[in-house]
Amino acid sequence: MKIGTIEIDRPVILAPMEDVTDRAFRQLCKRHGADIVYTEFISAEALRRGVEKSLRKLKTDEVERPFAIQIFGSSIESMVDAAVIAEGYCPDYLDINFGCPTKKVAGKGAGAALLREPEKMTAISEAVVKAVSIPVTVKTRIGWDLESINILDILPRLEDVGIQALALHGRTRSEMFKGRANREWIRQVKEQARIPVIANGDIWSAEDALAMFAETGADGVMIGRGSIGNPFIFEAAKELLKTGKPMPPPDFRARIDVAIEHLKLSVQFKGEKYGVLEMRRHYSTYLKGLPMVSRVRNKLVREDGWEQVIDILLAYKQECEGYVMEGKILEGTEYLNDHSDKLLLNYQANNI
Ligand SMILES: Cc1cc2nc3c(=O)[nH]c(=O)nc-3n(C[C@H](O)[C@H](O)[C@H](O)COP(=O)(O)O)c2cc1C
Repeated sequence: MKIGTIEIDRPVILAPMEDVTDRAFRQLCKRHGADIVYTEFISAEALRRGVEKSLRKLKTDEVERPFAIQIFGSSIESMVDAAVIAEGYCPDYLDINFGCPTKKVAGKGAGAALLREPEKMTAISEAVVKAVSIPVTVKTRIGWDLESINILDILPRLEDVGIQALALHGRTRSEMFKGRANREWIRQVKEQARIPVIANGDIWSAEDALAMFAETGADGVMIGRGSIGNPFIFEAAKELLKTGKPMPPPDFRARIDVAIEHLKLSVQFKGEKYGVLEMRRHYSTYLKGLPMVSRVRNKLVREDGWEQVIDILLAYKQECEGYVMEGKILEGTEYLNDHSDKLLLNYQANNI
């Protein structure tokens, strides 16, 4: 797959996720094999107004390369201004969000709402492409609802104005996150596309990533929820793609170690107070399915010091060794992916 100067064979990409794909999580995923990472979406209007919180989201580090900054907005003027500001932070490319289904975004005419206004979507894309000298890509859904799937109409419009790749979540806006992402639509889009297509939706395992490539013919795949609490998914997917051999699932030692790694990165970038606080929502996915988890989670969410949190996690790792002896943990069989429902439900509750 080629976008600008980036050329990667069958990349496995971290999807943009609000409040999830911050610097710490992006770097964690990168260490575990993600080929490209995206910032969470950033409001064009907020960038234009110089809102500190949004400007902070533009910060990245060289180790994240290649990475994309994603922006969303509903007016050409704000999107152009935001694109120029974002370009100043030197991303490898700039991505436009035309897929967010939530009230706070689509309800204000941005994100997936633009699927109902293909002319405006095209005009925004064209203006952004002209405003910057880096490649511009789009992430979207297949249409507004099942009665108005229009991605095959939108695709050539975006190609004609210079969009360099399309990341496609195989659902409509109305479907939100329900059902299963439609791979057949992604396949059809890929078949007609002159630009690279990145397939997205419901990749929960390395095997799913392989199937997504096989069933859609896409140039790359993008993983969102399946990476939460499970950054191992990137290296596992790449190993499977390269050798055809599955990697063993991460055991409790690897999962606890990666939670500690995540915490350290979080504290490095946000300081102790916020770094520790924001990690709290991640422990349940890292520890999912292990014995006596609620007790340890209760301890973790009450602790304010990062070193103390690490001590709790290390003590729990030791405790788990005992559970192996007792047969409460069957080595090599335990697995974590709970489809991260909790984070998703919070996301929907906050945004719909
Ligand atoms: C918590 C959360 C936050 C999200 N934030 C964004 C975002 O900022 N930008 C975006 O384009 N999509 C966002 N999405 C959508 C994902 O990028 C992705 O398209 C979707 O979750 C489907 O992929 P998956 O099944 O691999 O999770 C978000 C999804 C979730 C669950």
